[in-house]
Amino acid sequence: MIAGIWAEDAQGLIGSNGVLPWFLPSELQHFKQTTMGQVILMGRKTFEGMHKRVLPGRTTIVMTRDETYQVDNDAVLVFHSPSAVLDWYQSQNPETAKNLYVTGGAEMFVAFKDSFDRLYRTIIAGTFAGDTYFPKVLAFDRFTEVSSVKHPADDKNDYAFTVKRYEIKR
Ligand SMILES: NC(=O)c1ccc[n+]([C@@H]2O[C@H](COP(=O)([O-])OP(=O)(O)OC[C@H]3O[C@@H](n4cnc5c(N)ncnc54)[C@H](OP(=O)(O)O)[C@@H]3O)[C@@H](O)[C@H]2O)c1
Repeated sequence: MIAGIWAEDAQGLIGSNGVLPWFLPSELQHFKQTTMGQVILMGRKTFEGMHKRVLPGRTTIVMTRDETYQVDNDAVLVFHSPSAVLDWYQSQNPETAKNLYVTGGAEMFVAFKDSFDRLYRTIIAGTFAGDTYFPKVLAFDRFTEVSSVKHPADDKNDYAFTVKRYEIKR
């Protein structure tokens, strides 16, 4: 199962200067719960925006075209093309294979746009300043919305958000 997972603001913004434009602990908790124990994939810019911090309990794939790029951590795999990732993923034992979560940024959603079985899309009830938008290339009409869960703002989360899950139409 290959899923895309991201958060966007009311105008589709996802990034600002290499990092997330907002701080929403409940949304980060949703990300953690969904991806824990699985494989997460991110672009090199997103990885470096996190100062190369490796999220615990998950295998991380970093995508770069730089063949010399190295990450000194056993939990990190570096791949240089989407097809190499898909070949690796398909070679996993289907009985034990983890889910693969494509976590961004924008270039990764373009690179894997035709590979998703499932989408986790968080829509934040606010507009922010930034420079990176969710790409327009993903064909939402190929998916069915199967759930939509509202999380109200609270004392730790300044903005309400809604998590929508979509499954590919078979
Ligand atoms: N809101 C969210 O849910 C969310 C999630 C993740 C990230 N973000 C934000 O998104 C922004 C970054 O997004 P971005 O689109 O600029 O960058 P990105 O997708 O994180 O990384 C882009 C890099 O990935 C590599 N790459 C891209 N296509 C490739 C391909 N086909 N094969 C191999 N490598 C490939 C290249 O690395 P090289 O240049 O090294 O070759 C490219 O520069 C940040 O602000 C981040 O915080 C937001």
